[in-house]
Order: sequence, then structure tokens, then C-alpha cells
Amino acid sequence: MRKLNVGAIGCGYWGPNFIRNFIEIPEADLRAIADLDQGQLDHLQTRYPSIEIATKDYRDFFALGLDAVVISTPPETHFSIAQECLLHGLHVLVEKPLTINSHQARELITLAEKHDRVLMVGHLFEYNSSVHTLKKIIESGELGDIFYIDAVRASLGLFHPTLNVIWDLAPHDISILNYLLGDVPLNVSARGSACVHRAVEDVAYVTLMYPNNLLAHLRLSWLDPHKTRRITVVGNKKMAVFDDVESLEKVRVYNKGVKAIRRTDTYGEFQFAYHYGDVVSPYIHFEEPLHSECLHFLECVRQRKKPLTDGYNGLRVVNVIEAAQRSLKNGGRAVPIEPTPVHMLNGHPSSKAVTNGIYIGG
Ligand SMILES: NC(=O)c1ccc[n+]([C@@H]2O[C@H](COP(=O)([O-])OP(=O)(O)OC[C@H]3O[C@@H](n4cnc5c(N)ncnc54)[C@H](O)[C@@H]3O)[C@@H](O)[C@H]2O)c1
Repeated sequence: MRKLNVGAIGCGYWGPNFIRNFIEIPEADLRAIADLDQGQLDHLQTRYPSIEIATKDYRDFFALGLDAVVISTPPETHFSIAQECLLHGLHVLVEKPLTINSHQARELITLAEKHDRVLMVGHLFEYNSSVHTLKKIIESGELGDIFYIDAVRASLGLFHPTLNVIWDLAPHDISILNYLLGDVPLNVSARGSACVHRAVEDVAYVTLMYPNNLLAHLRLSWLDPHKTRRITVVGNKKMAVFDDVESLEKVRVYNKGVKAIRRTDTYGEFQFAYHYGDVVSPYIHFEEPLHSECLHFLECVRQRKKPLTDGYNGLRVVNVIEAAQRSLKNGGRAVPIEPTPVHMLNGHPSSKAVTNGIYIGG
């Protein structure tokens, strides 16, 4: 089997993780890297001598006969770089968020389809075995009907100079929630505060309303003393927590709950019946999620398959963030989320149904 030739664009904080993974995967040849920072290029080429070309201009890649590129540059640059790479016949894996507006995301989807190239977005948690386990638990019915979901993603830094904390952190949680629920939210409201840098919100509270009145809340912060990466799913039978900061028991299922019981002898009064049971942490086989993501990308390129996190998946997340930004500017008013048009869903492998132009699928 021929190795796929890969180039990496953007070698800052996150890019080197892709470089390491593609170098470790035997089916890939990470031949070239690009970054504006010469020091970083030199450092990476010294560390990985198998890299043939290190350049400040990613356009140099276009003469190398590469199959694919991975883009981990700042989000504002994703669209133009991905567009150019697709136009040059390359398959593209773009870091989250796919783009910084839905118009750009749609353009990339159309371009990839026109040129029969794979377009994938790096929604890392959809390749995370703990998230897969949580989805299985929800789908098994063990938790019962889901009442609400709470997600917290907070720590101190890293501050982004121009895009706020919602653009930076919410793509993870929105992609997780859409994946877990197999659905997209109907509306979003967001409040935030720019505490350190006056123009860029570093703390935000985002409320998503999914169909069937399923409420989800995201707390996002670059300004918190504790690193927290936690998702709590509360059902009418049990509750489950995915805590990514835990080293071992990342998913726990709590046999806890409460029921309101109307007392028959005293009209109009309720009593609450609480139950407390076991806490169970299922065994989860650990694989580095980024490794699984890179393998999936290569498989999609080789077999011309639609990725699990394809352009549509990226668009659905961008739609939510775009609406959240409008809400943020309007004092937290609930903003309806742009439905993904039906014509953009044709051929999407994971689509289960399309209702009133709204994508309902996993
Ligand atoms: N999946 C995750 O968990 C995760 C974590 C961190 C960052 N990210 C994503 O990765 C991307 C990069 O984030 P980061 O934290 O590494 O940012 P960063 O600022 O540390 O790195 C970005 C790099 O891109 C380079 N760059 C900018 N424009 C370029 C161009 N035109 N050509 C070549 N190189 C260029 C910069 O020189 C810099 O080295 C973002 O989209 C971010 O959202 C994802």
C-alpha cells in the first residue's frame, strides 16, 4: 500500500501534535511543514529529521505532489488556506473551528465536493473513546430520558488575541453534544464578559436548547484557577459524568435520582423520593484521540469516504457559534440557529432524517 504524503501547515501550539502523529503512523509520510516562524520550523526539523521540506510559505507544498494537508493555523486563516489547498487538489483536515463564519464553511464544502476531495474538521472529541462510551450509555437508555446537560471547559489561558472564548472552546462542547444527542440545537443564548482584554470575551455562559426541551449549558472560561473539562448528563433514571481531567475513571455513572410524588392524603403537596445507588466507572480502552482522528482522515482519503466530522459537521458547529455571537451582542437574547439546508445534506452518510430543512442526525 502506497504511503500517503502529508504536509502540515501551522506549527505553533497544536500543529506539532499532528506532526508527531502523522510521523508515527506507518501509512503516512509527513514530508513537509509550513509556518511563518522560522525558529519553530528549525526546531521541528531538528526533532524530526525525516521532514524533507520546512517552509515559511505553504504554497511551496503545491509542487511536492502531496496527497493531503492538515491545517492548524489561527481560525481566521482556515478558510483561505483550505480553499487554496482544495483548489490545488489536496485533501484537507482543518482544525476547529472549520471557519469563522457559515458562509465560508459552505464554500469549502461546495469546493471539496466539486473537486472530489476530502474535507474534514478536527472535532477531536468525536474520536475520543470516553465520549463514545458516554454516547453508548445514553443510547442504551440506562440514564432514562435526558433532562439536561451541563458542560464546563475552564482553565487559566491560553488567551486568543482576536477571537473570543466561545470561538476557542465551544467547538469542542457543541460537537460533543451534537454527537451525543444525534441532533442540533434550535436556539442559543450567550452572555459573556471581557475581563482581561477589553475587546475579547474571556468568560462566557452559553445556553443551547435542543429539540424536546432538552437544555444544555456551557461554561467557558480562560480565567479560572481550576482546569475543568467536564460534561454532566442528567437523566430521569441515572446521571453520568465525563471528566477528561481524571486520569483513570473518566466516565462515571451515578445511580442517583429524584422523583416528585404527589401525596394522596394531603391535597396539592409533593414529596420527593430520592434514590442513591452505586457509582460505576466502565472500563475504557484508551487510544490517543488525535491518533484515531489522523487514522480516520487517512482512511477517508484512501477510500474517498466522507469523514465522521466532515464539512457539514463543521458547518453545524459554526452555525451555533455564529448565532451565539449574535446573542452575545444582544444581551443574551435567544437566537435561532440557522438550519443546515437540505440540498447541502445530500449524500451525507450519517444523516438519519431531514425535517423542515433541519438536519436531524448523528
Ligand atoms: N483540537 C484541540 O484540542 C486544539 C487545541 C489547541 C488549538 N487547536 C486549534 O489549532 C489551531 C491553531 O491553534 P494554536 O493554539 O496552535 O495556535 P498558535 O498561534 O500557537 O499556532 C498557530 C501557528 O500558525 C502559524 N501561521 C499563521 N498563519 C500562517 C500561515 N499563513 N502559514 C503558515 N503558518 C501560519 C503561526 O506562525 C503559528 O505558529 C486553531 O484552529 C485552534 O483552534 C485545537
